Amino acid sequence: AYLSADFANPTGETVDRAGRERVLTLAEELDIAVIEDAAYQSLRYDGEPVPPILALEIAKKGDINNTRTIYCGSFSKTLAPGLRVGWVCASEKVIRKLVLLKQAADLHSSTINQMAICTVAERGFDEQVAKIHQVYKQRRNAMLAALEKYMPEGVSWTKPEGGMFVWVTLPKGMDGAALLAKSIETAKVAFVPGRAFFADGSGENTLRVSFSCANDQMIDEGIRRLGDLIRGEVAALAA
Ligand SMILES: Cc1ncc(COP(=O)(O)O)c(C=O)c1O
Repeated sequence: AYLSADFANPTGETVDRAGRERVLTLAEELDIAVIEDAAYQSLRYDGEPVPPILALEIAKKGDINNTRTIYCGSFSKTLAPGLRVGWVCASEKVIRKLVLLKQAADLHSSTINQMAICTVAERGFDEQVAKIHQVYKQRRNAMLAALEKYMPEGVSWTKPEGGMFVWVTLPKGMDGAALLAKSIETAKVAFVPGRAFFADGSGENTLRVSFSCANDQMIDEGIRRLGDLIRGEVAALAA
């Protein structure tokens, strides 16, 4: 099983502690591994942190070598995506296999990049994370405020406590991909149509908006334009 339990891409939602316990119980029953993709775990802006699935399993089993969870961390969302450095915490036997797979795939990640990330992380990881928390929290707040202000009735969205994304659900019958085509032409606002995230091709009335790289004014203006466009589409649908 693969899951991104903290501020998931694309929904922004977090699996609570009880949900994580259920995942572990189910994995035990099915005898499968759990891949915990923790790319956004450090990006919590409010609310109480939930322990990683791996931590819950270690607490239960007493030793990381008895666990089935493979925890994947990344520096892409906190320090720099371009250096391509992340890390895995898992039982020794899993790590040994992963080393072989990594060697077969591309020999290894750039040693210089690993050294650079290590030095930067040692010197100021917490400081950098605190800095981006401030910026992203403000942008998250700006996006939620703009959605509240500009979205017509019938549109709903998630209220993430962290991460980079808000997941928007449009009234049934609307199509996020068609909306994107119109939006790019007229409103000049881009987003990801939700269907891209569904293996079965459903989710056509959903979309993912991201608040990480636009400032407050851009977010307000972008959501205003998107709200106007959606209002027009909702009216056309009702006509
Ligand atoms: C859930 C999730 N996992 C992993 C990544 C990428 O991580 P990395 O840059 O370490 O490959 C992303 C971001 O693009 C993501 O959204």
